[in-house]
Amino acid sequence: MAENTSEQAGAGAVPRHVAIIMDGNGRWARARHLPRGAGHRAGVKSVRAVVEESIRQGVQVLTLFAFSSENWRRPRPEVDFLMQLFLTALRSEVKKLKENGGRLRVIGDLGAFPERLRLEIAEAEVATAANTKLTLQIAANYGGRWDLTEATRRIAQAAATGQLDPATLTEASLASQLATAGLPDPDLFIRTGGERRLSNFLLWQSAYAELYFTDLMWPDFGAAAYAEALADFGRRQRRFGQTSEQVMGQGAQALDSAPESPHDPDRVSSWP
Ligand code: FPP
Repeated sequence: MAENTSEQAGAGAVPRHVAIIMDGNGRWARARHLPRGAGHRAGVKSVRAVVEESIRQGVQVLTLFAFSSENWRRPRPEVDFLMQLFLTALRSEVKKLKENGGRLRVIGDLGAFPERLRLEIAEAEVATAANTKLTLQIAANYGGRWDLTEATRRIAQAAATGQLDPATLTEASLASQLATAGLPDPDLFIRTGGERRLSNFLLWQSAYAELYFTDLMWPDFGAAAYAEALADFGRRQRRFGQTSEQVMGQGAQALDSAPESPHDPDRVSSWP
């Protein structure tokens, strides 16, 4: 585990949680006159490189946007290809993740996925549940608005049945109903492929994330490019509403006055 963590501002801090939109597979393939599928396949190699570098540098949580709620709008053959690739990658990468002491967690509306895939996801989650080195969280059929809507529905139901007094709702209790409950919020949000959008990814959770955009297409984003993104994070000063002078004055204590992380496991409400 790295000595510096995102509890510290700047000074080579390593983000506790990195979230990545892996964009540019199709364009990478087109530039090489290859089918789009070749780009997605090449993208799996970048997934492996980023997972390994995360473990090396002491990142605790890595969330990858593998399939958005909007990706269903792609041509059917590409959707089928992505499902198959996801299954294949799950089998090979989870084996490596397990060897490296990592834990898999998949978030999103999995009900729409083929049953075989859902079963293997559940098995992989159970098989790696006790690992503590890195939590690899794959967002599949995920959307930030879906996540917030589902949380709101549960809260409304609890209020309607008298289990919850709406006056007692807090940021922490709302966050405990999100798909990411129990994990720290992303400190660093990376998007490859040249676009500069959040695309409905971890909307609530990324409220204070540092944003990092790169023109590299996802298959070209290897260990070195990722290490550069982590180093860039380490050079930034996170202020959380304070002045630079306050942060400089407090040094390593700076983030103690950051907004309480609604995902702090100790704060997750026991409410259903
Ligand atoms: C975006 O590129 C990429 C995707 C929609 C799929 C990413 C999936 C993988 C890399 C495989 C994931 C596997 C695991 C195990 C996480 P794009 O197709 O939108 O590229 P474009 O913008 O250039 O068209």
